[in-house]
Amino acid sequence: MKIDILTIFPEMFFGPLSASILGRAAQAGVLRFEVINIRDYAEGKHKVTDDYPYGGGTGMVMKPEPVYAALDSIIARAPERPWIVLMTPQGDVFNQRVARDLSKKGHLVIVCGHYEGVDERIRFAVDQEISIGDYVLTGGEIPALAVIDAVSRLVPGVLGDEASALTDSFADGILEGPQYTRPREFRGMEVPEVLLSGDHERVRLWRRREALKRTLTRRPDLLDKANLSEEDRGLLREVKRELGGGGEPADHQGP
Ligand code: ADE
Repeated sequence: MKIDILTIFPEMFFGPLSASILGRAAQAGVLRFEVINIRDYAEGKHKVTDDYPYGGGTGMVMKPEPVYAALDSIIARAPERPWIVLMTPQGDVFNQRVARDLSKKGHLVIVCGHYEGVDERIRFAVDQEISIGDYVLTGGEIPALAVIDAVSRLVPGVLGDEASALTDSFADGILEGPQYTRPREFRGMEVPEVLLSGDHERVRLWRRREALKRTLTRRPDLLDKANLSEEDRGLLREVKRELGGGGEPADHQGP
């Protein structure tokens, strides 16, 4: 997958895109990132990318010409038309479904908005506007990185273990249950016996039940939309009975 990023702060991407799983996938050629400085497409001696808002008011507005020029250049070089996304708090709220849809695009272009906003005409150059949540950041760079990270790990070949993208939180619409590693006992807190049993079927059922319990106690709203099997529904009934009518007990026990 090719991901082009249009930004006025290219340096914000260098560390995150070269470290860890994304860095490894880029090295291996599974992902190709190109960070494009919008300023390189701005005109005049000062290469301005923002200007005062018509009608007055505080803050600067991102100018349309450099963004259109950068997009024109990308599109002219691309074998097929890429999918163009604008990061903005006014966009569709990002979630795992949106990440999955984007992971199927061969070529993504992400435009990072800045200043107080972008000239309205920039919206006509993009296919989709995305917000990462109902809060305002100083620019679209950190939101773009969140989207790139969530999308990249769904691209085949990016995660070492393909299965982990299928079993993690939200893959089937519910939260992941508790996980443990060594030591077996830590500060009085013990690893549940079932995980030491070696009985794969018991472990599988326990994990599923705990995932459902965690979702019920922390994010019951997710259960309405989740893709639950008959077995899941049975486990959920058990969990509700155990919790006594769906109360709100803590689902993690300390010492
Ligand atoms: N730019 C500023 N805040 C944002 C948000 N919440 N999502 C996407 N882009 C943004």
